Amino acid sequence: MRSLIDISELTTKEIEELIETADDIINNPAKYAHKCAGKKLATLFFEPSTRTRLSFEAAMYELGGNVLGFSESQSSSAAKGESVADTAKTVSCYADIIAMRHPKEGAPLVAAMNAGVPVINAGDGGHNHPTQTLADLLTIHREKGRFENLTVGFCGDLKFGRTVHSLISALRRYSGVRFVFVSPNELKIPDYVKASLERDGISYSETTDLESAMSSFDILYMTRVQRERFFNEEEYLRLKDSYILTPEKLQNARPDLSIMHPLPRVNEISVSIDSDPRACYFKQVLYGKYMRMALILKLLEVE
Ligand code: NCD
Repeated sequence: MRSLIDISELTTKEIEELIETADDIINNPAKYAHKCAGKKLATLFFEPSTRTRLSFEAAMYELGGNVLGFSESQSSSAAKGESVADTAKTVSCYADIIAMRHPKEGAPLVAAMNAGVPVINAGDGGHNHPTQTLADLLTIHREKGRFENLTVGFCGDLKFGRTVHSLISALRRYSGVRFVFVSPNELKIPDYVKASLERDGISYSETTDLESAMSSFDILYMTRVQRERFFNEEEYLRLKDSYILTPEKLQNARPDLSIMHPLPRVNEISVSIDSDPRACYFKQVLYGKYMRMALILKLLEVE
C-alpha cells in the first residue's frame, strides 16, 4: 500500500504513466466512469481550500466512487484535541483512501504512518503540495510537450509557497532545466532548496526584478503571498503587492510563454491577462482533476 506525501516519492517513469493515464481520461472519460464504484475517498481538510478539495471530490465522483469528509478542523474532533494519528486510524475504518490538508508540515506523513489506507498529502504547511505539482506537470506537458531544457521563473512568495517547493522538486530531475527565483528579499527561496540545487549542479539564479528576467522564461509561475504563514500582519501588508503581473510587464515576454499560478489569485495577475492565450492558470485547475483521478486509480491499484 502506497501513500503520496512528497512529490519526490514518484519516479520519473511513474510521473510519465500518470500523465498518460490523465491524457487517456481526457480522451475517453466513459472508460473510467465506474472504475472506483463502491470505493470511498475521505477529504480531511484542516485548512481552507476550494480547488484542491473540490477537485479531489469531483475526481472521485467521475470515477464512480463516493466521497465523505470535512472541510474545517473546527467541525472535526481535532477541535476536541484528537491527534492526527487517531483521526487517520478512525477514518481508515470508513474510507478506502484519504486526502489530507493540514497547516502543520508533516501531518499527512503522520496520518500515512497510522492509516490503514493510502493517504494523499493535499498540502502541508509551507512544505509540499504534490497533487498541485501533478496538475502543474500535466499543464507543462500539454503546453510545451516536454520537461527538458525549460527556463522556469518562480515569482512571489518563494519562502512559504509549498507549490513552489514541490514543483522545483519535480522539475529538477529533467536535464537542462533552469530556475529563476524572483521574490522580495524577505520571501526568498529557502537555503535548503538552494543548497540541494547547488549540490546537484542544477542551474538557478535569484533576482528581485521580474521585468529584467522576463524575456528568458518559457514558464512563469506566479504565486500568492501566503498571508496565513506570516507572524506579522504589517509585514504581510507591506509585501503582498510586491509583484503584479500586468500586460505592460509582459512586453518582453516570449510569444510562447506559459503563465501559470496555482490559484487562488489575490492581486498577483491582473485580470486583463486572463484573455491572453499565454495564460494557463484555469487550464491548471481542470488538469488537476484529471491528475487526481489518475493518482487515485494508481494508489487504489485499480486496473
Ligand atoms: C495553493 C496551496 O494551497 O498551496 N492552492 C492550491 O491548492 N491550488 C496555493 C495558495 O494557496 O496560494
